Amino acid sequence: MSRKRSLSGIKPTADPHIGNYLAMIRPAIELQDSYDAFYFVADYHALTSTHDSDAMRRHCYDITATFLAFGLDPQRAVFWRQSDVPEVCELTWVLSCMTSMGLLDRAHAYKAAKDRGEAGSINHGVFAYPVLMAADILLYDSDVVPVGKDQVQHIEMARDMAQRCNHSFGDGTLKLPEASVRSDVHTIIGTDGRKMSKSYGNTIPVFLPPKKLRKACMGITTDSTPMEEAKDPDTCTVFALYRLFADAPQQAELAALYRGGNFGYGNAKQYLFEAMDKHFSPARERYLSLRADETALEAVLSDGAERARAVAQPVLDRVRQRIGLGRRGGLPS
Ligand code: TRP
Repeated sequence: MSRKRSLSGIKPTADPHIGNYLAMIRPAIELQDSYDAFYFVADYHALTSTHDSDAMRRHCYDITATFLAFGLDPQRAVFWRQSDVPEVCELTWVLSCMTSMGLLDRAHAYKAAKDRGEAGSINHGVFAYPVLMAADILLYDSDVVPVGKDQVQHIEMARDMAQRCNHSFGDGTLKLPEASVRSDVHTIIGTDGRKMSKSYGNTIPVFLPPKKLRKACMGITTDSTPMEEAKDPDTCTVFALYRLFADAPQQAELAALYRGGNFGYGNAKQYLFEAMDKHFSPARERYLSLRADETALEAVLSDGAERARAVAQPVLDRVRQRIGLGRRGGLPS
C-alpha cells in the first residue's frame, strides 16, 4: 500500500525564524517518517514581494540548507524548488478559471492590503496567491498539508477549488487535501509581544550566532515591574518563549524565580538565551557547513525536482484530459 503524501511549501525569505520552525519546518520534517514527504521552496510565491534576483537565489539555498540541517532526509523526502516544476503554473491557470473573485476577495493577505487602502497598488500575484498555492497542493495529489494556523484558510480554498473541478469534470479530477496544524503549537509571540512575523520586525531567526541571539533575547519587551517585586510568568513574553525550549521542570524552576521576586527580567532573558542556544546550536553548526556547498544543495534540489515532476505530470495530464484541453489521449510520447 502506498503511503499518504504530506506536502508543504515555504517562501525563500532571509532568516527563517522560530515561528517558521515550530509551526512548519519541524512538524513537516517529523512527517517524513510516516508519510511520503514533498516539500518545496516557494520562489514563485516570493516573487509577489521579492524583486531581487540574487536574494531570491541565495534564500532558496538558505532554506534548503535549513531543512537539511534540521534533519530532512533527501533520500526519503522530495525537496525541490517550486519553479523547477513549472507545470504548477498551468494548473494555476486552470484553477483560476474555477475560482470566483469573491472567494479571493476574502483571502486574509488581500483583505489586509485592501484595509490599508492598497488594493489598487498591490500586484496581481498577491490577489492570485491562493490559486497558486492551491495548484501547489493539488498538483501532487496531496493528502495532508502541515502548516501554521495562518495558512489554514488557503487550504480551505484549495479544497474549494478541487471540489469545483470535481463537480464540473467528475470525481477524482483532483484530490481533496487536509490541513495538518499542530495543536500543541500556539501562536508564537515575537520580541515585542505581538505575533511573531517578519512584517512586524519582531522575529528571532533560528540560526543567529550566539552573540546576536543573546542580544535578540535581551531586546525582548517586558513591563516595568521593579527588580525586587514578584513577577507573573504567564503574562511575560520572555517566559512564553522559554516554554517553547524548556521541559516541565525547567519551566517550573523559572516560574518560581519570577514569583519569588528579586529576580530581574535580565536574568530571565539569560535563561531564555541559554535554552535557545542549546536547542539550536547543533543544527546551526550543520547549517553552516551545508550552506557552504551550493553545488551540493543544487544537487538535492534538482534531484527533488525530477522526482516531483514525475508525480506532477500524470496529475496534470489527467486534469487536461478531463477538462478537454489538448487532443484526446494527450500528447504522443
Ligand atoms: N503560503 C505559504 C506561507 O506563506 C507558503 C506556501 C506556498 C505553501 N505554497 C504552499 C504552504 C503550499 C503549503 C502548501 O507560509
